[in-house]
Amino acid sequence: MTDQEILAEVEPEPLFAAELFGDRIEIARRYAHHLATTGVEWGLLGPRELPRLWTRHILNCAVVAELISPDDVVGDIGSGAGLPGIPLALAQPAARYVLVEPMERRVDWLTMVVDDLGLDNVRIVRARVEDLVDEEVFTVVTARAVKSLAVLIEWCAPVLGPRGRLLALKGASVEDEIVKARKQIRRAKLNQPTVRELGSPPLEVPTRVAELVRH
Ligand SMILES: C[S@@+](CC[C@H](N)C(=O)[O-])C[C@H]1O[C@@H](n2cnc3c(N)ncnc32)[C@H](O)[C@@H]1O
Repeated sequence: MTDQEILAEVEPEPLFAAELFGDRIEIARRYAHHLATTGVEWGLLGPRELPRLWTRHILNCAVVAELISPDDVVGDIGSGAGLPGIPLALAQPAARYVLVEPMERRVDWLTMVVDDLGLDNVRIVRARVEDLVDEEVFTVVTARAVKSLAVLIEWCAPVLGPRGRLLALKGASVEDEIVKARKQIRRAKLNQPTVRELGSPPLEVPTRVAELVRH
C-alpha cells in the first residue's frame, strides 16, 4: 500500500480534536500522520485501526488528561506507539511524561516521533517497568492494553510515589478485573478503585479508567 492509499483509510479528524488539543492540534495531526504511516509500516499499529485512529486511539487517550495535574510526573507503562502518553503530553503539556517501553523497535519509533514532534516534556526509557524500582518514581502511572489490572498493580505499585495514582485504561472488563485484583490492591496499599468514564459525549464509546490511589 502506498502512503496515499493508507492515508485515504484514516478516519477524518473529529471536530472535538481541535477543542481538546487547542494550539497543539497541528502537532496532534502530525502524530496521527506518523501513526498511520511509519506506525503501520513498523508494525506498531494494525492497518485495520486506521478507520478509527482518532476516536479509538488518539482521542480515547487524550480525554484522560482531565485526571492529570500540571505538576505530575507521569510514567506511561508499555507505551507502544505512545498511547496514551503522547496524546496526554499534548493535551496536558505542563506535566512531565516518561514513556516506558522494553521493545527496541518500538523505542526507536518513539524516539524518532518524539524528536520530530519536538516534545520537550517527554522522555523515553527502554525498560520493563519491574526493572525501574529505585530508578524512577512517578506521581501517576498510566497503562493501556498492557496487562490485567492484577499484574499492573504488582508491576507498577513499586514505582508510585506517596499518594501516587495508577490510571488503568480499561474496556468493559474493568469491574471484573477489579474483583480479580482484590488481593493485589490490598497488598500494594492502594485505595479501592474508582471507575471513571471520560469523553462521552462527544466520544461514542467512553474511555473507562480504573483509578487507584496509594495510601
Ligand atoms: C499491546 S501493547 C499496548 C501499547 C499501547 N499502550 C497501546 O495502548 O496501544 C503492550 C505494550 O506493553 C509492552 N510491555 C510488555 N511487558 C512490559 C513490561 N514488563 N514493562 C513495560 N512494558 C511492557 C509491550 O512491549 C507493548 O509495547
